[in-house]
Amino acid sequence: MARPSAANLVVIGSLNVDLIAQVEHLPSPGETVVATNLVKRFGGKGGNQALAAARHGAQVMFLGNLGDDPDGRDYRNHLRREGINCSALNTIRGVTGCAYITVDQAGENQIVVIPGANGALTGPSIKMQRARIAVAKALLLQLEIPLEAAIDAIRIANESKVAVVLNPSPVAKAFPWGDVKLDVVIVNEHEAREIFDLSPAAAAQHHDSWKERLTARRIRHVIITRGGSPTLHISKSGVEEIPAHPVKPVDTVGAGDTFAGVFTTHFAEGAEIDEAIRWANTAAALSTLKHGAQEGVPHRGDVQSALDEAKPSLKGR
Ligand code: RIB
Repeated sequence: MARPSAANLVVIGSLNVDLIAQVEHLPSPGETVVATNLVKRFGGKGGNQALAAARHGAQVMFLGNLGDDPDGRDYRNHLRREGINCSALNTIRGVTGCAYITVDQAGENQIVVIPGANGALTGPSIKMQRARIAVAKALLLQLEIPLEAAIDAIRIANESKVAVVLNPSPVAKAFPWGDVKLDVVIVNEHEAREIFDLSPAAAAQHHDSWKERLTARRIRHVIITRGGSPTLHISKSGVEEIPAHPVKPVDTVGAGDTFAGVFTTHFAEGAEIDEAIRWANTAAALSTLKHGAQEGVPHRGDVQSALDEAKPSLKGR
């Protein structure tokens, strides 16, 4: 079946099995709470972002590691069913990554990740995939894998003039900002503060400081997602606010991943950054309407319909 997108992406990252407990409120340190439900779902930031891009029509090649356990076998089949190219996805001895997730009644969450096979993704195994990275329109990655593997992939993309979209989550203190070129960095507010040592609030008034940080870190665009508040786009030319799509979230786990996958698809198609953000905001909002990181990820047509409904003049892409 022809895909409705010219985006040819390589996604590198983690694949986890998510164990999701629903609770009335998130436990404080030392507190025990009783769950009302427990479900097992496919997740991991890499897998979630790849799936969001594939459902949005991109051709996705996934690079990462699964364990040689039943979870690994099931996850590979799941990615194939979603149309994701798994020919360079390794199965290694050991267990597939796992995440313990707690979600409260307001849709807020806490996550503990056990890396498993993701933690064994090496720089040399990424370097073996140089030819695959070099022909992509964009490389999308996060930091739930060893830093060495992520950096090697970015260097290959830089050398091959492939655009890089990095979602530096979870934040890695040792990330060598400025050593590699990054086209787009996607962060939430907490990550933005930690990485840039600046508050995203009133970014327009402090644009000179942001500009300095971007130059020093060799970043072209920073995108800061803020839940229901407008998304910020900061570049050397200024600060833009793109409104969020209003919804009543049931579960926000993976919403940032949907944003990254959908944004990168439009970015790789050549869309303007603000337009790509509008699509990504809407897709991320729709993804929060179901439990699980991947269950609510919309297809491109659903996002198009939601955008058309919100603003009848935005048609076509
Ligand atoms: O971003 C959400 C994801 O974070 C979950 O699917 C979980 O696996 C963790 O990686």
